[in-house]
Amino acid sequence: MTWYTGDPLYDTLLIIGFAYAALVLVSSFFGTAAYGGRFGGGKRAKGLKLGAKQGWVLMELPGLIVFPVVFFMGTNADQAVPLFFLAIWMMHYTNRALITPLLMRVQPGSQASFSFGVVIAGWITLFLHGYFNAAYLTELGTQYTYDWFTDPRFRIGFVIYTVGFVLNIHSDRILRNLRSPNPSPDEPRYKIPYGGGFRFVSCPQYLGEILSFTGFAIMAWNLGAVFVLAMTAGNLIPRAIYTHRWFHKNFEDYPAERKAIIPGIL
Ligand SMILES: NC(=O)c1ccc[n+]([C@@H]2O[C@H](COP(=O)([O-])OP(=O)(O)OC[C@H]3O[C@@H](n4cnc5c(N)ncnc54)[C@H](OP(=O)(O)O)[C@@H]3O)[C@@H](O)[C@H]2O)c1
Repeated sequence: MTWYTGDPLYDTLLIIGFAYAALVLVSSFFGTAAYGGRFGGGKRAKGLKLGAKQGWVLMELPGLIVFPVVFFMGTNADQAVPLFFLAIWMMHYTNRALITPLLMRVQPGSQASFSFGVVIAGWITLFLHGYFNAAYLTELGTQYTYDWFTDPRFRIGFVIYTVGFVLNIHSDRILRNLRSPNPSPDEPRYKIPYGGGFRFVSCPQYLGEILSFTGFAIMAWNLGAVFVLAMTAGNLIPRAIYTHRWFHKNFEDYPAERKAIIPGIL
């Protein structure tokens, strides 16, 4: 992995991107992003607020647009390895931008709590993320010949990515099923999740997301992919800690052995 691709725009944005990721990590310890009933409700989400479904779709849409646009501008867009990454990317962001939000079960009467500021922050991340990865895969990177499919970094990364993706989807499903398909207003909004990764941690959905991007960074082996791992971990590790504390505060019978995000450790 090298810091310099020789493309001044790419290299400059990468440095700015990592500075931004460091800022996000530090600021996350002073408060987590204002969305969702636990962290976006009441007066937490300031300014314009959206409903959960609209907020998620709007925020994540650039993930489905920027990457393919930049990808197909590159000279290696017809090569097998970059196309494989394109398929993974589109699958990941179709789930994040469309499937997960549209399946979400929203408590009726719950206040709009998705801050528009969070949408803007998401757009900045997704523009950088899409540009860094797509430009490197089809234009700037030199390693993505057919042989990359047999490189141990690609294979190990793919296994980690798949484990993370499955854990993320399975954990999202457990959370979704805590509410009935059409929740009534008097149904409790939050319950204790059990089973799957929840046996070990309070936020296996976040652990799955971090594992996915760890795997992706190993598979792609470039700093643009490390950027998104840094952004994801910088956001989700502190949020998992807040969520874990929230569960302990709100449920007396919360399982004591559960950690926040890393089984047995944190
Ligand atoms: N790549 C990244 O940087 C990034 C950042 C954030 C999220 N994500 C991913 O996006 C997905 C959604 O994230 P999120 O932060 O919205 O997750 P979340 O807090 O787990 O919420 C997901 C859904 O489940 C509901 N829910 C959560 N806990 C519940 C409980 N105990 N009982 C009943 N319902 C519960 C939430 O309702 P309410 O809305 O009413 O709270 C929401 O509808 C996850 O897979 C996450 O990993 C990725």
